[in-house]
Amino acid sequence: MDMRNYPAEPFRIKSVETVKMIDRKEREKVIKEAGYNTFLINSEDVYIDLLTDSGTNAMSDKQWAGLMQGDEAYAGSKNFKHLEETVLDVFGFPHLVPTHQGRGAENILSKIAIKPGQYVPGNMYFTTTRYHQEANGGIFVDIIQDEAHDAALDIPFKGNIDLKKLERLIEEKGAENIAYVCLAVTVNLAGGQPVSMANMKAVRELTAKHGIKVFYDATRCVENAYFIKEQEKGYEDKTIHEIVKEMFSYSDGATMSGKKDGIVNIGGFLALRDEDLFLAAKELVVVFEGMPSYGGMAGRDMEALAIGLKESLQYEYIRHRILQVRYLGEKLKEAGVPIVEPVGGHAVFLDARRFCPHLDQEEFPAQALAANLYVESGVRSMERGIVSAGRDIKTGENHKPKLETVRLTIPRRVYTYRHMDVVADGVISLYKHKEDIKGLRFVYEPKQLRFFTARFEEIEK
Ligand SMILES: Cc1ncc(COP(=O)(O)O)c(C=O)c1O
Repeated sequence: MDMRNYPAEPFRIKSVETVKMIDRKEREKVIKEAGYNTFLINSEDVYIDLLTDSGTNAMSDKQWAGLMQGDEAYAGSKNFKHLEETVLDVFGFPHLVPTHQGRGAENILSKIAIKPGQYVPGNMYFTTTRYHQEANGGIFVDIIQDEAHDAALDIPFKGNIDLKKLERLIEEKGAENIAYVCLAVTVNLAGGQPVSMANMKAVRELTAKHGIKVFYDATRCVENAYFIKEQEKGYEDKTIHEIVKEMFSYSDGATMSGKKDGIVNIGGFLALRDEDLFLAAKELVVVFEGMPSYGGMAGRDMEALAIGLKESLQYEYIRHRILQVRYLGEKLKEAGVPIVEPVGGHAVFLDARRFCPHLDQEEFPAQALAANLYVESGVRSMERGIVSAGRDIKTGENHKPKLETVRLTIPRRVYTYRHMDVVADGVISLYKHKEDIKGLRFVYEPKQLRFFTARFEEIEK
């Protein structure tokens, strides 16, 4: 690999947190006690934590300074005004409803925009998003292009919506039975895959003909914008800010988890164009989150988010971010480790089907792989496969997603390339004795979002 292709960190490290590595014997004990679920491991027992990029970001000195300027008034906080102005400037949305994190916004949007029995097409599901859609009577329909379900296929903009699927759904069910289109930029569970500007524009044109609204999941929209600048013709000379603004010009609003591209540790929002929907959202936010001028956030957290959103648009920042993730992916690929291709924006996804061909999907290969990677290396990752997909709300059967993956998610501005080398070494070393990975069975299966708290045991054969 030519390191000249990978930019050095565009920041100085001002504050550090010491980590320690416990030995393999202790890690074996820890994972057993955690029921083979990496969510249940204590952070202190983790060496490199790639569980998630959510809320695990390092804030800048300016954001920390922003915390000190928190206006914690119950109503009319000046930080709300700053966040409102920032959201208008970055995304072009005039109406803002702050929430405690992304799922708070998903809850409110689902309640105001879905009538029971309506369909909610989306480019692959996300766990909390689909939960709120279904809990409010919506019927989720996956309209991502088929290629996104093929882990080994290396094509650009793999997160695109299949317009024919959308058109067919509108024809079959009638526009009035479609609540809205939910378009995620990027698509987390497909491997952090981006959506092209051309696709967003086409979705807008098609839905406008039928009077259907489009709401984006904006969680990783800046990462998506980088891919557009890098790979879509006509955008090479545009700024990340210009690209983000154009992306959202094709939508009616968005839910956002600020914990990702907002580069903060907590927070999120619902942003809307429509005045009536905004009024409906404000009526609900007071029930579920708080006063409309703080929702679920402290004044100081709104300030940090406003600053973080602006920082995320800096080209040097986002270029380093995407290329650091790609560096890890390329290292693994070079060693023959099967990963989801192309490498997406926030994570490298190991393809557990090809990593553990000796395990049946009902033996939870990705869950087992994540548990074994922790024992091998002290690196914490996350299952994104059959366990995360949960059960069909009607039949009670397991959803069986084609993608059975382990996500190595890179927090923003936290780790260096050398950390990525250590992660790669751990994965490669495990790959060399992958046959030792045993399948798992549930000993405790929660009814909702089971991946967070489920417990397993190894299947002895
Ligand atoms: C694509 C996507 N949408 C929504 C969410 C929900 O956001 P939050 O964790 O802030 O509730 C997440 C992260 O968990 C996500 O990755």
